[in-house]
Amino acid sequence: MSYIDSSSGLLHPTDTARWCGDSGAYLNLAAGRGMTRDAINKDLHSVWRYAQAIDVDARAAVSLGEGGTPLLERSWNGVPVQFKLEFMMPTGSFKDRGMTVMVSYLKSRGIDHVLEDSSGNAGASLSAYAAAAGMRCRILVPETASYPKIAQIAACGADVVTVRGSRQDVADAALRMSSEIFYASHNWQPFFIEGTKTLAYELWESLGFRAPDNVVTPLGYGSNVLGLDRGFDELLRNGEITRRPRIFGVQAANCAPCHAAWQSGGETPVAVTVKPTVAEGIASSQPTRLREVLRAVRGSGGAIAAVSEDEIVAALGALARMGLYVEPTCAAAAAGLTQWLASGVIRRDETTVVVLTGSGLKSSERIGQLLNLQPRTM
Ligand SMILES: Cc1ncc(COP(=O)(O)O)c(C=O)c1O
Repeated sequence: MSYIDSSSGLLHPTDTARWCGDSGAYLNLAAGRGMTRDAINKDLHSVWRYAQAIDVDARAAVSLGEGGTPLLERSWNGVPVQFKLEFMMPTGSFKDRGMTVMVSYLKSRGIDHVLEDSSGNAGASLSAYAAAAGMRCRILVPETASYPKIAQIAACGADVVTVRGSRQDVADAALRMSSEIFYASHNWQPFFIEGTKTLAYELWESLGFRAPDNVVTPLGYGSNVLGLDRGFDELLRNGEITRRPRIFGVQAANCAPCHAAWQSGGETPVAVTVKPTVAEGIASSQPTRLREVLRAVRGSGGAIAAVSEDEIVAALGALARMGLYVEPTCAAAAAGLTQWLASGVIRRDETTVVVLTGSGLKSSERIGQLLNLQPRTM
């Protein structure tokens, strides 16, 4: 397996860990070999169950038991929907799926000190996996990041630094430090997507070796969109499914670069005005792989939506009243589904999965304010 420079097409062996090409462009991996159902390692309940399809030596896996999350059928606006509870992961977000593979790879290449910028969840995940791997770790987060995420990062032993400004300012600060410490950004490192692709494998297995019709996921930098695209592509090439699902990404209207580019019909970034959003995990104004995200969504026949703050909060409350206590970021996905059901783009007779990516326990204070929750006093 080689890294492929996204700008020049040059190949670099993965024997040595890199985070970008010679000219600073991001790197991809070539299409994976994938696997068939008989190669599932049924003894394992983590993402390493699909080790045959993962291009990292599973014998050296740094695992905390991630993956194997529930797929729960419930009704949304009167329509049956499968909720994929990705917040039921060791660190409380879907990031662990990508992180176990990325950290296993980096460790196998001798990396012992990692740097990352994050809205909070990826930092919490990397700090946990770095701790499990015995690596040192520095995480930069926005100063507005939910405190439980910051505490989680620090508790795992990472050096956590809060940065004033936008999510992009945090990424820029990390880039400036990348000459000192290996930049293990999940938004740059393609081995993270090698891990998020196992979401496709897990859905396929849970649905009786079938692909769903639609998968709806919150969209920031796009690791779930790209992982789903990669995983279902491998399954198709291995003859395990006959067609890929439509992939739907949901952005907060207050920070919606992918949606703006989607609407322009092109593949290049268009200027967007960015405002604060309660969906902190998708407040990403310059997604690294924007072009690929657009291609993946278009190629699948899916779409990208932008939802307002009010729509996010309404979906957050509705999910919580169903017992699904998630963070505002992933409530955006359910809000997007509401739009597509109303417009008829997604139909009730289809199998639709909504990916719930992060636990509400990480944002309880904010959720309390957003939903105006007041305990009664006796
Ligand atoms: C809870 C949650 N959901 C979704 C996302 C978006 O993931 P991505 O940026 O890979 O699209 C994030 C990113 O931090 C997140 O924390």
